[in-house]
Amino acid sequence: MEYQPFSFLLSMQTYFGLLSFITLPFFLFCVLLYLRQKIWCSCDICHGYLSSTWSKEFNNLCDWYTYLLQKSPSQTIHIHVLNNTITANPENVEYMLKTRFNNYPKGKSFAMILGDLLGKGIFNVDGDLWMFQRKMASLELANFAIRAYAFEIVATEIKYRLLPLLSSFSRKDGSILDLQEVFIRFSFDNICKFSFGLDPGCLESSLPISHFADAFDLASKLSAERGMAPVPLLWKIKRIFNIGSEKKLKKAVEVVNGLAMEVLMQKRKLGFSTHKDLLSRFMACINDDSYLRDIVISFILAGRDTMASALTTLFWLLANHPIAISEIRKESDQFRESNQEFASYDQITKMLYLHATVYESLRLYPPVQFDSKFACKDDILPDGTFVQKGTRVTYHPYAMGRMENVWGSDCIKFKPERWLKDGTFCPQCPFKYPVFQAGVRVCLGKELALVEMKMVVLSVLRQFDIELVAPKVAPQFDPGLTAMVRGGLQVVIRKRRDIAAA
Ligand code: HEM
Repeated sequence: MEYQPFSFLLSMQTYFGLLSFITLPFFLFCVLLYLRQKIWCSCDICHGYLSSTWSKEFNNLCDWYTYLLQKSPSQTIHIHVLNNTITANPENVEYMLKTRFNNYPKGKSFAMILGDLLGKGIFNVDGDLWMFQRKMASLELANFAIRAYAFEIVATEIKYRLLPLLSSFSRKDGSILDLQEVFIRFSFDNICKFSFGLDPGCLESSLPISHFADAFDLASKLSAERGMAPVPLLWKIKRIFNIGSEKKLKKAVEVVNGLAMEVLMQKRKLGFSTHKDLLSRFMACINDDSYLRDIVISFILAGRDTMASALTTLFWLLANHPIAISEIRKESDQFRESNQEFASYDQITKMLYLHATVYESLRLYPPVQFDSKFACKDDILPDGTFVQKGTRVTYHPYAMGRMENVWGSDCIKFKPERWLKDGTFCPQCPFKYPVFQAGVRVCLGKELALVEMKMVVLSVLRQFDIELVAPKVAPQFDPGLTAMVRGGLQVVIRKRRDIAAA
């Protein structure tokens, strides 16, 4: 027999071939078994989710979840294919955000889903990294003196940019303006001035950042879609091969990164000598540019999209409720001198109907409609729901604003009066109203956000009447990290008659 020096390799090849012939189908069978458990659940909810049949009856996924949560006796549901427990039960919310906070971190899964966009920014981390950023941000945001500074920034943006822009549109009779787009730019200017000490001037008539805004919206949408995928393995594979939605996400994140780096460069050029803004504080103790980038992105997300969403839905509600508009105008006239252009901070804090209006609007349309954590250990929620280690647990402020047992049978009505009793404002338990989250990680920008919203409402309603192009058509939301209205908010702006005559 002829000697074949590499014959053992051939036989090994055959051996491996044979082995893979046997093991590959077995491996595939195991994967299918795993997928069957994960993505082929035949219960009604999972079937509705996977086949998107919910969209035949509901405009938004959040409306379908609300319906399911309203029907559930415990106000908690579980979506097996997503391994996601969703709750609208205030006791559960308090439990996960406060009592057992340590068992419900953002977790590694969340960090992966949002990692490409948010990196190690405050929204995407736990433990020491989170604690450090929260402490630094609190120094700025919880400081009482900072309110006057923030007030000044917002007043300037309103006076020199927002009102002139609306005035110029009001002169073009009948021309349509997308108010959501205006609020995105307005909020972006404010958050950059406040957090970074820089003025991008986006509300100026030329439109310098729209490619950035588009990239940011796309990155937010695609990141949110990762979180809704029944088989996360798919997006992970697409990410490795840089194809499809993952390729788009990568490109969008590159544009967003470019802007963040530009912010850092500008800041270095200008030096940190001006007002001690948030970014100066971080730059004074961090040298790592990619970490600083993450911080910049997180603060843009915190202050731009949430504010724009909150203002858009507030104006949609107001335009559909003329009585609320006249109440706000009446209250404003009561506290403000007739020749006074802007209400002062103190005057604004006395306007309780306005305060109630803003709270009521956020109850029905919270900018962050749901928020998720991942359970570290097996647990049982106060309503008796068993939570297995690794389960995603979501509280749902949008659904919670529509629960009859919390808000009464008129819960879907916009009624600012529900917050007022004998002329005083009655706050609700934050776990019934977790619009700004609640407990240990409660939003740090809440006061700033409320004042900003009130200032915009007062200034705009004082000078203009706003007419919706499509009144009564309930907002539909784009999928994303914050609730942006699909197609924007198209309005016609008119100068009020008495103001126009003056
Ligand atoms: C109407 C406007 C706003 C709403 C509804 C809102 C809501 C929220 C929510 C729900 C969270 C928790 C998010 C999570 O953990 O995933 C949050 C966190 C946060 N918000 Fe806001 N926010 C608003 C405006 C702002 C503004 C203007 C700022 C400030 C610059 C801000 C700064 C923050 C920060 C720094 C956190 C992180 C807190 C932490 O993780 O410890 N927010 N906000």
